[in-house]
Amino acid sequence: MPKALVLYYTRTGTTEAMAKAIAHTLREEGLSVDLVHCDNFSLHTLPQYHLIVIGSPTYYGNMAAEVKKILDESVRFHGELNGRVGGAFTSSGNPAGGNETTIFSILQALLIHGMIVKGRPEGSHYGPVAIERFDQQAEQECQEYARELAKVTKSLWAS
Ligand SMILES: Cc1cc2nc3c(=O)[nH]c(=O)nc-3n(C[C@H](O)[C@H](O)[C@H](O)COP(=O)(O)O)c2cc1C
Repeated sequence: MPKALVLYYTRTGTTEAMAKAIAHTLREEGLSVDLVHCDNFSLHTLPQYHLIVIGSPTYYGNMAAEVKKILDESVRFHGELNGRVGGAFTSSGNPAGGNETTIFSILQALLIHGMIVKGRPEGSHYGPVAIERFDQQAEQECQEYARELAKVTKSLWAS
């Protein structure tokens, strides 16, 4: 069974609600899922995951420092994540408040690791975004995104 990590940072709970929805759907799709806040993450576990989905609040159009710290430390495993599947999501205060650049900042690091990321022709193209709160639309986006990531992961890593 492919293993997934849903890693997130949150201060006021919106990104956490997204992370929980993504983790729930990934489990429904048959993946083994670890849902972990950045503060509780053990870096040495990183190479065991076939799918890594990272969520951060949008802070000045970028990921939170806590997420960046983990990504910078992930250099320890540079090369080992090649071919794994990755994704990103964010919550922001404003609709055009830098949420897409935040998602890109995370995806950029995952791509440099050699990971495979997936866009979407409908909805939020780069990854789910919640504006101010975790509403029904955000929940639906998280579920759809997780289903698509699960499909790619299972096609590559089912064994
Ligand atoms: C330090 C800081 C910087 C922020 N920068 C932005 C920003 O650039 N654009 C935006 O739309 N919202 C910004 N926000 C609002 C957060 O992105 C928003 O409240 C988010 O939903 C918080 O996520 P959380 O509930 O998971 O902590 C900022 C909030 C903080 C605390």
